[in-house]
Amino acid sequence: MTKVLAIESSCDETACAIVDDARVLSSVVRSQIDIHARFGGVVPELASRHHLGAITPVIRAALQDAGLTLRELDALAVTEGPGLVGALLVGVQAARGLALATGLPLFGVHHLEGHLFSAVLDGASASLPPHVALLVSGGHTELVEVRGLGRYRLLGATRDDAAGEAFDKGAKLLGLGYPGGPVIDRLAAQGNPKAHAFPRSMIDREGFEFSFSGLKTALLVHVQQRGQPMTHAELADVCASFQAAIVDVLVHKARRAVRACGLDRLHVVGGVAANRGLREAAIEAGVADGFTTIVPAMRYTGDNAAMIAAAAAARLHAGCTPSVEVHTSQAIDEERQRIP
Ligand code: KG4
Ligand code: ZN
Repeated sequence: MTKVLAIESSCDETACAIVDDARVLSSVVRSQIDIHARFGGVVPELASRHHLGAITPVIRAALQDAGLTLRELDALAVTEGPGLVGALLVGVQAARGLALATGLPLFGVHHLEGHLFSAVLDGASASLPPHVALLVSGGHTELVEVRGLGRYRLLGATRDDAAGEAFDKGAKLLGLGYPGGPVIDRLAAQGNPKAHAFPRSMIDREGFEFSFSGLKTALLVHVQQRGQPMTHAELADVCASFQAAIVDVLVHKARRAVRACGLDRLHVVGGVAANRGLREAAIEAGVADGFTTIVPAMRYTGDNAAMIAAAAAARLHAGCTPSVEVHTSQAIDEERQRIP
C-alpha cells in the first residue's frame, strides 16, 4: 500500500492525482485546450501562465477527491521532462514546495515512462514486463521494448512528425480546428477508409522508424486539387482514409516489433491511443498473430498525473533514489541510471 501524489504539467494539461500503487484514488486534469485552440497549437508562454493559476486548485481537488491529507501520503512525484521548460518548472516547483513542507521523498518521472504506466492503472493490465509498447502522442511516436522498470530499449521512432502531430496538422489543413485527433477520429467513423489511397510511408522498410510528413503533404495536395468546401460525406471519406494511413503503418510496425522481440504482449499508450481505429486495429492484429493487446482506459490515454504517480510507486518499491532533474528532450532509453 503505497500512496503517491503526482503532478503533471509538461504541456497543456495541469494535472494532479493520487494512486495507491496502481489503484487511482483521484485524478484531476485541467486542460488548456480552449486557450490554445484559437492559436492552432500550444503557445508555451500561455501554457506556463495557466499552469501557475491552476496548480494549487488542482492539487487541492486531488486531495479532496481522494479524501486524504498530505500527512497520509508515502511519496510525491512530478513529471521532470521531456516537455515545455516553463510548463515543467511550474509543476516541479510546486512539488518541491510540497516535499519541503512534508519531508516526503520526491520522485522525478520521465513523461514517457508515465505513459508506459498508464496501461497498469485501475487493473487494465498486470503489466509485468516484458512487452512492446507503441507510444503515440502529440510529440512522440516510438516503439519500445519494455524489459523491466527503467529498462527500455528504443526500437524505433519517427524521423519527422509524431502521429498525434500528423492528426493535428491534417485537421488544420482540413479546417477542423485543434486538437485534430479527436475530430478526425469522429469523422472517420462515418467515412470510407478506402476512398483515397494516401501513402503508407516506410511501411515496407526494415526497422521500426516512422515518417508522417509525406502523408501531410499528400493531404495538402489532395485538398488543393479538390478545393474547399467539401461536403460532409467527402470530408468523412478523407478523414477515414487519412486515419487509415496512419493506423496501418503504426499497427504494421508494432506487430512486427512484437514478433521480432519474441514477445506476446503489445501496449498501446499515449494521446493517440484514444483513437478508435487504432485501438480496434491493434486488438485485431493481436488476435490474428496470437499476442495480447492492452490499451489504457480512455481517461488515461492523454496526459494525466495518475500515470506519473504509478511510475513513481513502482520506483519506490524498487528502492530507487528519489531525485528530480528537469530536462526537455531526454530519450526514454536514457531513463535507467537511477535503478538500483
Ligand atoms: O499524450 P498527449 O495527451 O500529449 C502529449 O504528450 O503529446 O497526446 C496529445 C495528442 C494530440 O496530438 C491529439 O490530437 C492526439 O493526442 N489525440 C488523438 C485522439 N485524441 C487525442 N489522436 C487520434 N485520435 C484521437 N481520438
Ligand atoms: Zn503525453
